[in-house]
Amino acid sequence: MSDTCFVVQAGSALSGSTTVPGDKSISHRVVMFGALAQGVTQVRGWLAAGDTEASLSSIQALGVQVDRHSTNELTVHGGTLQAPSKPLDLVNAGTGIRLLAGIMAGQPFASTLDGSSQLRRRPMTRIITPLEKMGANIHSADGYAPLNIQPAELRGIRYDMPMASAQVKSAVLLAGLFARGATIVVQPGPARDHTERMLYSMGADIAAEGNTAVLTPNGSLNPMDLTVPGDFSSAAFLLVAAVLISGSDVTLTGVNLNQTRTGLLDALLAMGADITVTETGLEAGEPVGMLRARHSVLKGTEVGGDDIVVRMIDEFPAFMVAALFAEGESVVRDAQELRVKETDRIAVMATELLKLGANITETEDGFRIFGPQTLTGAAVDSHDDHRVAMSLTVAGLIAGGETVVMDAKCAGDSFPGFAETMIALGANLGVQAPCAAQ
Ligand code: S3P
Repeated sequence: MSDTCFVVQAGSALSGSTTVPGDKSISHRVVMFGALAQGVTQVRGWLAAGDTEASLSSIQALGVQVDRHSTNELTVHGGTLQAPSKPLDLVNAGTGIRLLAGIMAGQPFASTLDGSSQLRRRPMTRIITPLEKMGANIHSADGYAPLNIQPAELRGIRYDMPMASAQVKSAVLLAGLFARGATIVVQPGPARDHTERMLYSMGADIAAEGNTAVLTPNGSLNPMDLTVPGDFSSAAFLLVAAVLISGSDVTLTGVNLNQTRTGLLDALLAMGADITVTETGLEAGEPVGMLRARHSVLKGTEVGGDDIVVRMIDEFPAFMVAALFAEGESVVRDAQELRVKETDRIAVMATELLKLGANITETEDGFRIFGPQTLTGAAVDSHDDHRVAMSLTVAGLIAGGETVVMDAKCAGDSFPGFAETMIALGANLGVQAPCAAQ
């Protein structure tokens, strides 16, 4: 039985101006890093969503006082962490468990990090390997959660990451805060750099140049006072929908435009999308601005190589929908990471879009699509993956007839109010909870 479903019809143009919820990556980090600071961190625009709430509860279970002034406004009273009385539950949050593991590795008490059955299927060896090199004492279920972390003395290392992952980079740098000596992380491509920016703003001795970050522990971290910018990864669904739906003209304000995140923008522009970008300033050390997207005729494109793939890693489900309606061939390579996200996003998206009549050729590290294709509404399933739920909803806004996106509640893992935002822009979308269309 589906908890919630979105019932979507084609036909209406999207128009108007809106904001998107706070950046998920930054929202995880601000509660974790704020907990480590000496003093009081003030946060506005915090993303109150499934994934980030799991990080917040874990931080509270570590004895940190957090005052909740409103849904999106928090005060984090940083200081010393205390041993948790039970396993920390990160639910579905990969960023939550991997970053927290880096912090826990350096604490003088034991902890266990766990999550949902979905999180227990995601690989943890990628963080366990470097953390063990630093001296961490971690027991896992054969490389998967639960992770039991015992106290250990850590030493700084140089780690050449086998993959460009911000979660791995961050886990190592966070452990580095508690290590003897400097920690150097070298990434093969530009993974998102929110950890480096935030630690720097807190007074950490961290230098990032090119693909290398060097952190030298220098005592305590200063607290922060920040407003979390809007999440480009949430904006992505609105951008793709506006570009694909005839007559649309949508403006998004206050969006994080950090270039380590905006690979999809580059891909859409290369496809001929009519999107204008206006940078308006800095928020929390991140460039923010306005995006205006109008309906455009797209042509197929090729996406491959660490330089772009990592910068749009969360946006491939939405990109897949855009590629279906572009003229000619679109090819994605070097994106095998998609297979170990919340779901295997290549297989799940290809399977679900097939139900709408799409023809997508899966490859080991990506996919090929020849467009434009004609989709017909049908019942599709999110597989409890937020980005799949939202991408299928966008596909449903273009497919002929009615599309029912089952198990759509997970959209709230990163974009609370996704359906309401779409409806406000003019989308023909209904929310059923519980889902009547089974
Ligand atoms: C994230 C890093 C990325 C991204 C995830 C958020 C982060 O994961 O896919 O949604 O906040 O550090 P990887 O580090 O596994 O690429």
